[in-house]
Amino acid sequence: MSEGSDPIELGDLSDLDDGEMREFEDIGREGIVVCRVEGELYALTDNCSHADTPLSEGRLRGYSLTCPLHGASFDVRDGSHSGPPAWEGVACHRVSESDGVAVVELAGRDDSGGDEPDAGRLRTR
Ligand code: FES
Repeated sequence: MSEGSDPIELGDLSDLDDGEMREFEDIGREGIVVCRVEGELYALTDNCSHADTPLSEGRLRGYSLTCPLHGASFDVRDGSHSGPPAWEGVACHRVSESDGVAVVELAGRDDSGGDEPDAGRLRTR
């Protein structure tokens, strides 16, 4: 299993307030959405596991990111889903901030490697 990718700089996200999210469509295969909750940054693959919809167009409440299309929700802390219509979670990526620069390390399936299609995606059902 892949241990993740080389760190990718996201820039200064100090303007991203609690409860806000930002998409980075050029990172990973499907883009990522970075969320700030209670001061911490979290990143998920920006693609609902149900039917290929950007989660960044959904709604963030607490740690729960809800898909705009059919309402599946995902925990930004680990990518797990709360139930149908999604049947699995989405990939969760490690984000860190230091000296005003946020950095993401892509997990598994969004890394440049390609032979482990489900690595990094948390199966919760
Ligand atoms: S596309 Fe996200 S719940 Fe259906």
